[in-house]
Amino acid sequence: MRRPTLNPVERRLGAALSIRDLRKVAVRTTPRAVFDYVDGAADAELTARRNRAAFAAVELVPEYLSPVDHPDLSTRVFDREIAMPLIFAPTGYTRMMHHEGEAAVARVAARHGLPYTLSTVGTSTVEDVAAAAPGGEHWFQLYLTRNERLNAELLDRALAAGFTTVVLTVDTPVAGRHPKDMRNGLTIPPSLTLRTLFDMARYPSWVLNKLTTAPIAFASLRSMTGETDVIDAVKVADVVFEPTLNYDHLAWLRANWPHRLLVKGVLSPRDARRAVETGADGVVVSNHGGRQLDRTPATLTVLPGIREELGPDATVILDSGVTHGQDILAARALGADAVMIGRAYLYGLMAGGERGVERAVTILREEYSRSLQLLGLKASDAIARHHVRMP
Ligand code: FNR
Repeated sequence: MRRPTLNPVERRLGAALSIRDLRKVAVRTTPRAVFDYVDGAADAELTARRNRAAFAAVELVPEYLSPVDHPDLSTRVFDREIAMPLIFAPTGYTRMMHHEGEAAVARVAARHGLPYTLSTVGTSTVEDVAAAAPGGEHWFQLYLTRNERLNAELLDRALAAGFTTVVLTVDTPVAGRHPKDMRNGLTIPPSLTLRTLFDMARYPSWVLNKLTTAPIAFASLRSMTGETDVIDAVKVADVVFEPTLNYDHLAWLRANWPHRLLVKGVLSPRDARRAVETGADGVVVSNHGGRQLDRTPATLTVLPGIREELGPDATVILDSGVTHGQDILAARALGADAVMIGRAYLYGLMAGGERGVERAVTILREEYSRSLQLLGLKASDAIARHHVRMP
């Protein structure tokens, strides 16, 4: 039985039984413009809906009469064991969602034995994350800037801070078009409008996030360039998003990063092959949660072709639309080594800071574990193609 608690945050989180429930809590605890920034997607949001629909369409085919007690959720990504096939995706401006930000997410990831990926446009530095979650497995998501010296320095710092993997995001030559953010007048840094004044009155605990997000956006980059005053994040974004990103950049990165390297945003077998031929250890099959090019395919539907193209040795991770333990199961069965989650943990963060992220992971782990057992499996590594049917 659940312990009764008077703490409203604990009560709300305890009552949330699914990521959908956490999303509903987040709606109530977060100013609309911030919630929409997380929840929304590009243009008509067709891809975001497709992602979810593809997971919903998967049928799971159980096999019974085999022992399934205490399933072993762990798996290997590269040569490392992780507690379950789940990785925290990079998300920008995370301290805008809740003041505990990246540090809180990295701590939860480390507690659960799962990798955490820090974004280049994060609101904490690589050193902040290493200090907040010592012993955790930290990955760094790279947006290459146009300045090669800055890029090299970023890699040096990630290496010195003990980051094990670099994830190069390639689906962002320009920022996607987010109509909700445009309608909400969302700017980073925030401008003072009637609406933000209203938000400050309605969500007093959030005022701090809003006021501090701007000076700390792009934390890793900013601490390098010595920019301490508030600079226009949009201008920085112009520098960060490299519209000419190409395979020469990837080759440069391969030559300058000694550890694992993933290319994130891959949706075609041809790109996947070329990325690996250029030296990547694998790919993240991702459409950025539907936040970049709308009308791309759902990631789950292109996954089998990409796995087939790369063969069993390359690392293949999938994200975009994962909100249930059974989504992890489906992705594994169709060729992924693990999945990444973005919004799923951000809903938790918005709903209750570190405790909300903890709740999100607990929900996903319980769903995944129970579903494995119901499917008749006693280990993550026993999931195979014949356990799912795609329409
Ligand atoms: C993102 N994503 C992202 N990706 C990336 O490579 N660098 C980044 O800075 C960000 N920032 C970001 C902010 C927010 C608010 C969201 C929701 C997403 C994309 C992210 O890494 C991941 O690909 C998606 O979130 C996966 O889809 P789901 O899990 O959100 O459906």
